[in-house]
Amino acid sequence: MRFIYKNSKVPEKILKKYSIKISVYFEQLQEVMDRNSYDYLESSINCPFDMHTLTKVINLAEKKNNAKLKYIIVIGIGGSNLGTKAIYDAIFGHFDILEETRKPKMIFLDTNNPVFIQKLGKLIENTKDKDNILINAISKSGGTTETIANLEIISRIFLKRFPKALDRFVITTDYQSELWLEAQKKGIDTLAIPQKVGGRFSVFSAVGLFPLALLGIDTKQMLTGAKLMRSRCTHNDTAKNPALQSAIILYEHYKKGIEINDTFVFNQELESLGKWYRQLLAESIGKEKNNHKKIINAGILPIVSVGSTDLHSVGQLYLGGQKDKTTTFVELKKNWTDVAIPKKRIFPTLAENITGKSVVEIMNAIMNGTKIAYKKRGLPFCEVILDEISPKSFGEFMQFKMIEVMFLAKLMDINAFNQPNVENYKIETKKLLK
Ligand code: PA5
Repeated sequence: MRFIYKNSKVPEKILKKYSIKISVYFEQLQEVMDRNSYDYLESSINCPFDMHTLTKVINLAEKKNNAKLKYIIVIGIGGSNLGTKAIYDAIFGHFDILEETRKPKMIFLDTNNPVFIQKLGKLIENTKDKDNILINAISKSGGTTETIANLEIISRIFLKRFPKALDRFVITTDYQSELWLEAQKKGIDTLAIPQKVGGRFSVFSAVGLFPLALLGIDTKQMLTGAKLMRSRCTHNDTAKNPALQSAIILYEHYKKGIEINDTFVFNQELESLGKWYRQLLAESIGKEKNNHKKIINAGILPIVSVGSTDLHSVGQLYLGGQKDKTTTFVELKKNWTDVAIPKKRIFPTLAENITGKSVVEIMNAIMNGTKIAYKKRGLPFCEVILDEISPKSFGEFMQFKMIEVMFLAKLMDINAFNQPNVENYKIETKKLLK
């Protein structure tokens, strides 16, 4: 993965300046890595090195997998499903509608949607064999209303169709949460989330590893990418550390009132990856109070754009509206495949200059054209170049972004790891439902 910031409008000398400001944090991260434990808020950076969990997850995935498996139902919300969805959609999900026979497919249940649940219920009722389905419910707290409601309804339908088929459930939650204890009582397989690893930082724990391994994704490669990136992103030389560079750029603009960050992907299948980051940045950085309990109402609004689709939707605003955003273009060094426009055309007089060009060439021209237009308008942007669509590239990207957010929170003097105001809505919802 490459991170390019030459158009970020943050000069090199500013980047250097922060090395000193953040040096104590490097020592802290070093301690987290040296201890290789789950005792720290930053401990998610140790997940890629946790071979015990990986082995456990892979063994369980092997046990639950079989040639009959058609649907993996992932029940969970926010940090409990967005990382898995990002990788599933990038590699398979975006093409689900075109690849009817490819199995297994992943079905995500996050919010409570009666129509979706009913249709899923029908699908379960019409399923021939219990082994066609595996249900993985994921909730760190073990008590999130939406997740438990979905789990209740789906379990009822599934167990009515296949009584006693509890072996087709796996519950991923905090060790000893109420959900953990209930699952254990019923003899359901459980996977633990390290207590200090928060939802949005948990993709490299059992939260993401199990469903992805079950799908056949090379989780070892994903962790290899994450390990490589951990080493780059904890380097105390800013010039060698993309996560710190990116955090400083976001912070510098934030201080000047530029409080929107657009993750602009040029492969539609990366939209969910953008949305995974949207949660990571929003929930970690959007805080009412700083570390000294002072009210600051901080935050950077993350948005996601998909090229070239959104150039025909919000491009006018981006290029003509207020200069209130930073942009991170995310692109691929190598596309999986390419298709050419025929030389002998059926509509030869239309868009003449595409004749004989490949789709990748056209998309590159649109993307580079967009970057030139941004430059001419003086809009700040960075570029992330992923090697390809692969578990390793996603491991790199996600680790890069998680450490970027840790640095950014440090610079902003806020706690990246809590979400007190999300809890507010959860408490109010529970009261209303009482
Ligand atoms: O990142 C987070 O901490 C949140 O988005 C949670 O993942 C989300 O609220 C779901 O919570 P839980 O996993 O406890 O069901």
